[in-house]
Amino acid sequence: MNILIINGPNLNMLGHREIDIYGNKSYKDLIDHIKKSTINKHVKLKFYQTNHEGKIIDYLQKHYHKYDGLIINPGALTHYSYVLRDCLISINKPTIEVHLSNINEREDFRRISVIKDIVNDSIIGLGFESYTKAIDQLMEMIK
Ligand code: DQA
Repeated sequence: MNILIINGPNLNMLGHREIDIYGNKSYKDLIDHIKKSTINKHVKLKFYQTNHEGKIIDYLQKHYHKYDGLIINPGALTHYSYVLRDCLISINKPTIEVHLSNINEREDFRRISVIKDIVNDSIIGLGFESYTKAIDQLMEMIK
């Protein structure tokens, strides 16, 4: 099973940005944690991070056919990117939205996710475990 994990803008700044919210672990620590947690699972993961909305769209359009499912943390794009929403609808893959923080308990604008109703599930507020839980859930859905 092949799963693509996309991280959007500013997630490369983990460990430096808003440590009180996101913790002091880096983006590399996140990837290492996910890889470690899936070591005994029959899944192949591909990670893609970019700060550019259009690059996410280009990447998805070019590569989506190689993957059985998708996990995406779009960062702030979550709250306003209809471009991303349209793209996810068009590629039509099993998709789980993840967030490290609990977006429902922060500023008002973060409560809105413009992809929430078109993804299969949203896992929020569990830190790195949001991703590992999403992998388990996606594997269960796809098998
Ligand atoms: C985030 C939440 C977003 O509101 C924010 O813009 C991020 C990270 C999260 O993982 O908690 O960049 O997606």
